[in-house]
Amino acid sequence: MPEIQFKETHDGSKTLYRPDINETYHSIHGALQESLHVFIKMGLDEFKGQNINILEIGFGTGLNAWLTLLNKPKNQEINYTSLETIPLNKEITDQLNYHLLVTHENAKKAFNQIHNAEWNRFIEIEKGFNLNKLEASIQNAVLPQNHFDLIYFDAFAPNKQPELWEVTIFEKMYSLLKPNGKLVTYCAKGQVRRNMEIANLVTERLQGPPGKREMLRATKP
Ligand SMILES: C[S@@+](CC[C@H](N)C(=O)[O-])C[C@H]1O[C@@H](n2cnc3c(N)ncnc32)[C@H](O)[C@@H]1O
Repeated sequence: MPEIQFKETHDGSKTLYRPDINETYHSIHGALQESLHVFIKMGLDEFKGQNINILEIGFGTGLNAWLTLLNKPKNQEINYTSLETIPLNKEITDQLNYHLLVTHENAKKAFNQIHNAEWNRFIEIEKGFNLNKLEASIQNAVLPQNHFDLIYFDAFAPNKQPELWEVTIFEKMYSLLKPNGKLVTYCAKGQVRRNMEIANLVTERLQGPPGKREMLRATKP
């Protein structure tokens, strides 16, 4: 595993930093706020009242999976598949402080359940929320076609991992999405948007999280 350090972001939540690629796991303007805005508000909230399949690219700290569990209505069922090539060890995830920054009564318990869950198969974390943490890359993972309602595209930035933002990757995302399925990402780069469009996704620029002007949402028509 590469060296990993902790950094505090502007909303008080921690993120992780990889010195080898000079990249953080979240926005330095606020890890928690970024995830809540990009993935929950602009992604999950579009599917209120529907039982859905979510795919995440980059499980990392588990922040998005955890926020999805805390924010989903009790009667909504979610199957959440998350890909990760470098699973973090418990020593690192135990030091993350996200549960201290929210008021949800099960915050800490839910975070631990998500991290303690076995990898590479679906585990029921609680009723209505099944999690499959897959140790696989976005490039190689074999996943069902026309299956996902929502993709959280949370890879490292295009200047750090350009191969994850290529047309071929978005073509794969297109094939995995159901018609009307949506992909959300914090990235708003013009080239990324063009690559999504070449892959036949219909894109929107939306207001970004605190500290960032814009983000992207793409829909499979
Ligand atoms: C920007 S971080 C975000 C992680 C996570 N969503 C979070 O909130 O902590 C990107 C993640 O993608 C993972 N990753 C890198 N290359 C990958 C690949 N080819 N396929 C899937 N995940 C990858 C990294 O290890 C890292 O955990």
